[in-house]
Amino acid sequence: MTAIRIDGKAVAEALRATIGEAVASLNVTPGLAVVLVGEDPASQVYVRNKIKACAEAGIDSFHHTLPVETSQADLLELLDRLNADASVHGILVQLPLPGHIDEQTVIERIDPAKDVDGFHPVNVGRLSLGLPALEPCTPRGCVILAQSVQPDLSGLHAVIVGRSNIVGKPMAQMLLAENCTVTIAHSRTRDLAAMCRQADILVAAVGRPQMIKGEWIKPGAIVLDVGINRIPREDGSGKNRLVGDVAYAEAAEVASAITPVPGGVGPMTIAGLLRNTVIAAARLAGEAVPGSISR
Ligand code: GUN
Repeated sequence: MTAIRIDGKAVAEALRATIGEAVASLNVTPGLAVVLVGEDPASQVYVRNKIKACAEAGIDSFHHTLPVETSQADLLELLDRLNADASVHGILVQLPLPGHIDEQTVIERIDPAKDVDGFHPVNVGRLSLGLPALEPCTPRGCVILAQSVQPDLSGLHAVIVGRSNIVGKPMAQMLLAENCTVTIAHSRTRDLAAMCRQADILVAAVGRPQMIKGEWIKPGAIVLDVGINRIPREDGSGKNRLVGDVAYAEAAEVASAITPVPGGVGPMTIAGLLRNTVIAAARLAGEAVPGSISR
């Protein structure tokens, strides 16, 4: 079997077009504040992409770049100002933060109504209770991609490899809400290969290049690869290339559908961020969330 290659770029583009139409239908112009502390090159790329995507969707963006030595108190003060700013409906603090700043303290300072990452304990709790919440963008993107090939996920066994707060844990809640049977596996799981072989939906979110092999995959499974890893190219050029957490070529021989890296889950994350910003703006402005993006 050769798997369907799930085209995250195309799904995300369609979603972004819908979001653009939703923005145009609102009386308020959604605004997203993106805060970057320090000069991590990967973070700079992510932030640039987020700001560009906002402009394309008609969303205002406000970019705050702070020096790496910024104190936690100064960052919290900026968040207080953004929380109070009526033109800002979404606040994103790019992670990771420098070591002298406590990430959880920062996350908890963001107004939950503006928490477009869905990382605040209020949104985490609401998601786990099945209440309307601002949801983490990457796992929601994974669910949308899985449903692009199999709309009803009910009864499927989902195995999530990775237990992060950003992906693994919220992914479990979302798949549970879709009536999957959910297992969260991680680095201490015994016989991880055997566990993965039970998965009708396998989500790889461990951050280890090509760790999940073709023989770990159940024939016909849907494979969602969240990993973004840079490894040296084989051609000796000294350049890097991007790979996921799944050994793609092997896995595509066994799976029924699989997301590539790049061009799979990654583009969905930004689309999710835009969607959350529009939802937050509509709610804060007291307008109805446009039906096309409310799911
Ligand atoms: N760093 C890596 N992924 C994310 C994300 O989804 N949100 C934020 N704020 N930072 C990140």
